Amino acid sequence: MRQLVIISGASGGFGRAFALSISNNKIPLFPLSNTKYVLLGRNIQSTNETKELLLNQQDGCEDQVSVMQMDLSNVDNVKNQTKDLLDKYNGVYDRVLLLNNAGDIGELKYVHELSEDLNLVQDHMTVNVTSCFIINSLFLDTFKSIDKIIVNVSSLLSTVPMSCWSLYCTSKSARKMMHEVIAREHKEKLRVLNYQPGPLEGTNITQKIKTSGMSDEETQKAFSNMTYISTSDSADKLCKILSDDTFENGSSIDYFDE
Ligand SMILES: NC(=O)c1ccc[n+]([C@@H]2O[C@H](COP(=O)([O-])OP(=O)(O)OC[C@H]3O[C@@H](n4cnc5c(N)ncnc54)[C@H](OP(=O)(O)O)[C@@H]3O)[C@@H](O)[C@H]2O)c1
Repeated sequence: MRQLVIISGASGGFGRAFALSISNNKIPLFPLSNTKYVLLGRNIQSTNETKELLLNQQDGCEDQVSVMQMDLSNVDNVKNQTKDLLDKYNGVYDRVLLLNNAGDIGELKYVHELSEDLNLVQDHMTVNVTSCFIINSLFLDTFKSIDKIIVNVSSLLSTVPMSCWSLYCTSKSARKMMHEVIAREHKEKLRVLNYQPGPLEGTNITQKIKTSGMSDEETQKAFSNMTYISTSDSADKLCKILSDDTFENGSSIDYFDE
C-alpha cells in the first residue's frame, strides 16, 4: 500500500512530535518504508529540522520526506500551493492522512480591547479558519476515491469560553464544526477526528501564553495552575486512537479522555 501523510505546522511543537510518532514503527500505521511525508511549515529552517529528525529516526531516504514552506496568512498562496501539491500526488497513493495542526493563538485581549486594531480579527481567522477550509476543500476534491483520514488539532477552548481568548476560542470552535460537517458530508472512505492535545509543554504557543501578560486575573490563574504534558506523549496518544480506529466519525477526543 502506498501512503501519504501531510502535516501542517510541522516546524516544531505538536506537528513535529506527531510526525516522529506516526512514522515510528511502534504503531505500524504509516511507516516511513511505505509512506511519503509532506511537512508544511512557515519557518522553513525548523521544518527542515523536523525532516532530518524523521529521516534519522528511521534511516530513511531523502525523497521519502518533502518540505514545503507555506504561510497560512496569505489565502491566495495557500490555495495555489495546496493545489500544486495535491495535483502532484493525485493518483499515486492508496491512503492519505491530513493533520490540520498549524494554528495561532492570536491576541490575548478582552473583546473591547480588540477595537484598537480590528485587522487582528480577520488576520487570525485567515490563519486558523480560512486557510484550513481551503486545504480541506482541495484535499477532499482531489482524493475522492481513496481512503482518507483528516485530523484537526483542536483545543479544549473550542468548547470552553475563556476571558481574553475570544479569537482563539472562536476560531477553534469554528474549526471543530468545520470538521464535524465534513464528517457528515462524507460517510465513505473518510475518517475525521477532532483531537484536543492537552496543555503542551515547551511549544512556541505555550511559551507565547506564558509571556503574554493577559490582563484577566482569573485566566492568568487558570494557566499558572496548569499541568503540562509532553508533545510526544500527546502525539503517541493520537497515534493510538488512529490505530484503534474505534472513534466516532467527526467526534472530539481529548488527551485526558479514557
Ligand atoms: N500548546 C498547547 O497547550 C495547545 C493546547 C491545545 C491545542 N493546541 C494546538 O496545537 C497545535 C500546535 O500548537 P503547538 O502548541 O505545537 O505550538 P507551535 O509549536 O507554535 O505550533 C504551531 C504551528 O503552527 C504554525 N503556524 C502558526 N501561524 C502560522 C502561519 N501564519 N502560517 C503557517 N504556519 C503557522 C507554526 O509555525 P511557525 O513555527 O512558523 O510559527 C507552528 O508550526 C495548534 O493548532 C494549537 O492551537 C496547543
